[in-house]
Amino acid sequence: MMKKANVAIDGFAGSGKTTVAVELARQLELVYLDTGLMYRAVALQCLREGLDAAQDALLVDLMSRFDLKMEVVARPHPTCRMVLQNEDVTDELHDPRVSALVPKVAACSAVRRDLVARQQDFARRGGVIMVGRDIASVVLPDAELKIFLAADLAERARRRALELTAKGKHLSQQEVEDELSSRDRQDSERADSPLICVEGARQLDTTGRTVAEIVEEIAGWVRCGSV
Ligand code: C5P
Repeated sequence: MMKKANVAIDGFAGSGKTTVAVELARQLELVYLDTGLMYRAVALQCLREGLDAAQDALLVDLMSRFDLKMEVVARPHPTCRMVLQNEDVTDELHDPRVSALVPKVAACSAVRRDLVARQQDFARRGGVIMVGRDIASVVLPDAELKIFLAADLAERARRRALELTAKGKHLSQQEVEDELSSRDRQDSERADSPLICVEGARQLDTTGRTVAEIVEEIAGWVRCGSV
C-alpha cells in the first residue's frame, strides 16, 4: 500500500495551527498530533514536582521516568489527549502557569531529544499531520507538505483570549499579548531547534482570514498533488 503523505505545520503561538490542523485532519483523513501538548505535559510535571526547569540535570532525570501516552484518534473527530502517569491531564495544559514555563523546558536538549523520538516514531507509517515549532526543521524534514503559519500579534491574542474565556479563564488582551510574544521570542531565540520557517515551506499569514479559507487553500495543495 502507498504510504500516505505527512504534513508538517509550524508557526508562532496562537497563529491558528491547531484549529487549522484539526479541520485538515478531518477533511483529509490524517491523524493529528499536537506536539505542543507534549512539551506542556513536561512543564506540568515540573510544576507538580516543584522542579527548577533551569537545571538540566533535573529535566534529564524527569525524562528518564516520564510516563506519557498520547491518545490520538482520527475518527469520528481528530483529537489529541495527553495521559500522564495514567491521568488525562489535557484540560490542565493551557493553564497560564504551564504556558509561562513551557518555553524553558522546551529549550532543554534532553527534553527535545526524548519528545522528538516519540514524534518521529508516531509518524513512521505516514498519514500524519503534526503541529509544533520544529516539525519541518527537525522532526519530519521529509514531510511531503510543510506549512508555516503567522498572524498579527493582536489578532493572535484576541483568538487566544476567546479560547481561554471559553475555558473559564479570563486574561486581558494585554496579558495574552505579553504571554504570546514572550513565548515567540524564547522559541525563536533558543539554541536547540529554534522556531524557523524552513526553505521549501509554504508560508501563510492567517490575519483576517477564516479557518475555512485557510483549510481550503491547504487542502487544495494536498488534493491536487502539488505537495
Ligand atoms: O503549540 P503550543 O503553543 O501549545 O506549544 C507550547 C510550547 O511548546 C511552545 O511555546 C514551545 O516552547 C514548545 N514547543 C516546542 N516545539 C514543538 C512544539 C511546542 O518547542 N514542536
